[in-house]
Amino acid sequence: MLTNINPTETEVWKKLQEHFHATKSFAIKEQFKTDSERADRFTIQWKDFYVDYSKNRISQETMDLLLELADEVNLKENIQKYFDGDVINETEGRAVLHTALRENESAKVYVDGKNIIPEIYTVKQKIKQFSDAIISGAKKGHTGKAFTDVVNIGIGGSDLGPAMVTEALQHYKNHLNVHFVSNVDGDHVQEVIKKLNPETTLFVIVSKTFTTQETLTNAMTLRKWFLTHAAEEAVAQHFVAVSTNLEKIKEFGIAADNVFPMWNWVGGRFSLWSAVGLSVSLATGYENFDKLLAGAHDMDEHFKSAEFDQNIPVVLALLSIWYNNFYGAESEAIIPYTQYLHRFSAYLQQGIMESNGKSVDRKGNCVNYETGTLIWGEPGTNSQHAFFQLIHQGTKLIPADFIGYVHSLNNNEDHHEKLMANFFAQTEALLNGKTKEEVISELSAAGMEASQLQKLLPYKIFEGNKPTNTILIDKLTPESLGALIALYEHKIFVQGVIWNIFSYDQWGVELGKQLATKILTDIKNDEIAKHDASTEKLLTYFKKSRK
Ligand code: F6P
Repeated sequence: MLTNINPTETEVWKKLQEHFHATKSFAIKEQFKTDSERADRFTIQWKDFYVDYSKNRISQETMDLLLELADEVNLKENIQKYFDGDVINETEGRAVLHTALRENESAKVYVDGKNIIPEIYTVKQKIKQFSDAIISGAKKGHTGKAFTDVVNIGIGGSDLGPAMVTEALQHYKNHLNVHFVSNVDGDHVQEVIKKLNPETTLFVIVSKTFTTQETLTNAMTLRKWFLTHAAEEAVAQHFVAVSTNLEKIKEFGIAADNVFPMWNWVGGRFSLWSAVGLSVSLATGYENFDKLLAGAHDMDEHFKSAEFDQNIPVVLALLSIWYNNFYGAESEAIIPYTQYLHRFSAYLQQGIMESNGKSVDRKGNCVNYETGTLIWGEPGTNSQHAFFQLIHQGTKLIPADFIGYVHSLNNNEDHHEKLMANFFAQTEALLNGKTKEEVISELSAAGMEASQLQKLLPYKIFEGNKPTNTILIDKLTPESLGALIALYEHKIFVQGVIWNIFSYDQWGVELGKQLATKILTDIKNDEIAKHDASTEKLLTYFKKSRK
């Protein structure tokens, strides 16, 4: 069990509040002027990661207090419990062990007294053999042709992780076309079907529970479509499943050999390291999937062993707490400067918001402080031409993570230099802004007459002082991607510990699921059951309009 400490009742919380009030007018750029060591002091270099967090509204005192907070909530001890397989997902009675999935084969991690590492490696071996056989063409479809397409059918963690990683590692991809069907909206599956040849398509049904309406509906539709082109016996060659629910898989008609098991101690949104990542292994080859795991494992080791002031997930989590709980910032932007990571913030939205979107603490009380941050973002430079205006000159404080790479993957140096020039320029602009004096001298130098200048002046001033973290990585490789994802996973954990909430359940998603089942009956039948007046009227209108 994790410790149970209300953060606002710690001694340091009060000190942080006082410190916040005393430093409200903190100007980051002034600190750079007076402290020549600032950039060095607030930078962590680890392996091929260079993390500069000096462009934040922090002094050494702020960091010391935040680190004190980490100590006061017993973070170190809690990290140990997380990795040791304590039942830290208390409301579901489960351990949280996605970290075990990337452990070395010689490690020992126990669940209910049993070392789970051998099982993990048996499944990894199965993933390898299966991926190798599909990629090489040794395993063929029912008409003897090699597979050309893979369809991953899943939603939430059973879709976002593999989809994000497959996109991110496109540079490492082989010849297989990998498609993702997630939405229960039939248009999604129909558009994918248009691209498929039933003779050469492999279907991977991914559902931890195997009860998810969206996934089962899409799987049934694809199965039905497949059976208009093939006989029932061919299903065994074309459909595989990843799940914990072996009974339900059997009911669906999937052969036991075609099942890739996963376990209850892996949360859906942290499951891409398990057989849920089968599509990644198929798309990029098992070696790359394994490297992804190895990179995540390196980050696990860093998180477990680095001193907190040198610990990337801990520092980023503490900064996020600083803005969320003291500055009242509600959201955080994630801006990767690589098109390959265009699904990264969508992926993190589930990871972060499904985990820490909670308002009841570990004692069962409603929290009296802010928790989970809103996560959003798009790759730079596209985002610069879309929403950056609001970050620069809007009224909201939006801390942002800028993720960039030293080397491009395609040797297009001119593009990469331009991309990275923008990457550095944005954080510099967000930090420095533009003062009244600078605007006046710029516009006067351009020959603008005084009255026009005065009119434009207020609009051209940038306040600056906007916090950013720069995560500069050598190259987008499977290893560095694994480490980057694990970094955010551990940031989630640290914030959950400090906020004293349960980060690993997701009861909030259940209510909508239950009501959708009821409403589906209303839609399919003549009668509409009792609802609030608005819902009843909407349903009546919808049903009438469909006739
Ligand atoms: O949205 C709720 C959720 O339970 C997620 O946590 C999960 O990733 C997703 O649904 C899919 O669940 P499953 O893998 O069981 O189909």
